[in-house]
Amino acid sequence: MPVLTTEDRLVAQIKRLKTERQAIILAHNYHYQVGEIQDVADFLGDSLELSQKAAQTDAKVIVFCGVHFMAETAAVLCPDQTVLLPDLSAGCGMSEMITAEEVRNMKAEHPGAVVVCYVNSSAAVKAESDICCTSSNAVNVVRSIPEDREIIFIPDQYLGDYVTRKTGRKLILFNGYCPTHFRIMASELEASKKAHPDALVLAHPECTPEVSALADQVLSTSGICLESQKTQKKEIIVATETGILHRLQKENPTKSFVPACSWCDCAHMKVNNNLEKVLWSLEEMRYPVEVPASIRVRAKSAIDRMLEISR
Ligand code: 13P
Ligand code: SF4
Repeated sequence: MPVLTTEDRLVAQIKRLKTERQAIILAHNYHYQVGEIQDVADFLGDSLELSQKAAQTDAKVIVFCGVHFMAETAAVLCPDQTVLLPDLSAGCGMSEMITAEEVRNMKAEHPGAVVVCYVNSSAAVKAESDICCTSSNAVNVVRSIPEDREIIFIPDQYLGDYVTRKTGRKLILFNGYCPTHFRIMASELEASKKAHPDALVLAHPECTPEVSALADQVLSTSGICLESQKTQKKEIIVATETGILHRLQKENPTKSFVPACSWCDCAHMKVNNNLEKVLWSLEEMRYPVEVPASIRVRAKSAIDRMLEISR
């Protein structure tokens, strides 16, 4: 009989409890997700795909292996289901950069402007916004807004800058950014391109404009996964969080992936996260993520508008 490893046992227990609780495990392509958690998930995706999945599932319990704002988004979309976040310390540096009050101040300075809010934000910030977007649909969301309307784009200035370059629309930006992607230096990427002259370069739009300008394509995390499968190139330089490499390597065993920056990771989250926490989450139904109705209803309207144009 094969000897079961600790990981095998944990996975077996997670699967048993998942059935018992009528639960589904959703995991982000990399948001602090270590490989074994990605492997036990029912669904792995980018922020848009995960929101769509949460909106569609009839599972009683959603275990969200992602950062807090994503679990909150699921809680907004599924008020009658239980959304669990295995580790409450899984925050997002960018989403913590902006408060609802700051959005209200921007709106007061630009009355009549449409507020487009990157999904990497709290529910309270979404509640002050007109429409959400993710990295994969930000360009289309902005294009959906009439030309004569001013647009406030929060909180990611670099995603906003990328959207401006793609659409030609002038956006009123907030000065937020992703502290993880900020670590990717254009000079390092240039050196990497010299060392791998035939490599395809794929970057996430949270990167600085200097880094994005060096990429062949700028894509969401799932876009990066899809393009890596499609390309004939054997070497791919990836400018995003390093947790994505697990999925990329697993799906493309004959290709080689070079991180544009080997320390571009939300390390504190990864350290905290493991299969045990997913198991305890299901065992003890912890930690439930709930959003008060006063915020939830307004935040849902902004998320629903995004989902409407992203079908
Ligand atoms: P994606 O929507 O591309 O998965 O990006 C989410 C994110 O937070 C990247 O850091
Ligand atoms: Fe937030 Fe950046 Fe970490 Fe994504 S990679 S969770 S945007 S801090």
